[in-house]
Amino acid sequence: MPTARTIFEEIFDDDQAFQLFCSIAASGEAQGGWENSRIAALVPGPQRDLAPKIVRHGSDEDRHGRIFDALLRKRGLDPVAVPPDMDYTMRLETVGIGLAHSLLQGDQKLTDHDIVTYLAHSRVTEQRASEQMHALCKYAGDRPDIGSAVRMISNDEDNHLAYCHEELLRLTAAGHAELIRSTLRATAMAEIVIYRDVTQAVMAHLARILGWSKAKSAAMVAGIRAVYIYERLGGWRRMVSLRMPARRDALGGPPETFSRLYR
Ligand SMILES: [Fe+2]
Ligand SMILES: [Fe+2]
Repeated sequence: MPTARTIFEEIFDDDQAFQLFCSIAASGEAQGGWENSRIAALVPGPQRDLAPKIVRHGSDEDRHGRIFDALLRKRGLDPVAVPPDMDYTMRLETVGIGLAHSLLQGDQKLTDHDIVTYLAHSRVTEQRASEQMHALCKYAGDRPDIGSAVRMISNDEDNHLAYCHEELLRLTAAGHAELIRSTLRATAMAEIVIYRDVTQAVMAHLARILGWSKAKSAAMVAGIRAVYIYERLGGWRRMVSLRMPARRDALGGPPETFSRLYR
């Protein structure tokens, strides 16, 4: 029976699987970096105190993208194109979750409503990122090739999540409670479906690369569906709750230095 640890080992020990994994991760991070840099440029006047934090958020995501690229290069691999059905960020945008790229490509200032949309999207997707990085730390954090990278990224994703909680609570107190509640719920309900579909698409591709048996692939699909059912039946609530984080002002300082290892 495959375990999370053995699955990660298989992926990271195989060049082609590692190449797909890092390419998907790098592409998602780079898109997040671009989105945040555009949002920072378009922040409305009343929310201008947020701008430096959004810049920091974007520069963290850009750095994560460069780290995944560097992991590929260290292994002598080039990034590969991410198939559209495995592109989590673009699929969320396509179903209208988060701010539309057409809006971000323009020069019109965002509204307070848009800022709620951005923070709700980040609250939900950073929860996913934080949990995924915790899993990577747990099952692959002791690998010499990727251990320090995943620990560094995991710490950043926890900061991003803390920032979303804190800023959404501030906007809740400022009178946006109902908008925040409904936006978080809609975002989470869409995200859990897209996460399930993207995970299945990635797993099917990895199964071909790694030559998995039908039984092993079926076990993986069953696992992905079980996660979706858990999330649909109530697990989604963990993605929409708001609690003042222990880490306050998590994005208040300058970005962490990009370690020489990943330059
Ligand atoms: Fe990231
Ligand atoms: Fe993040």
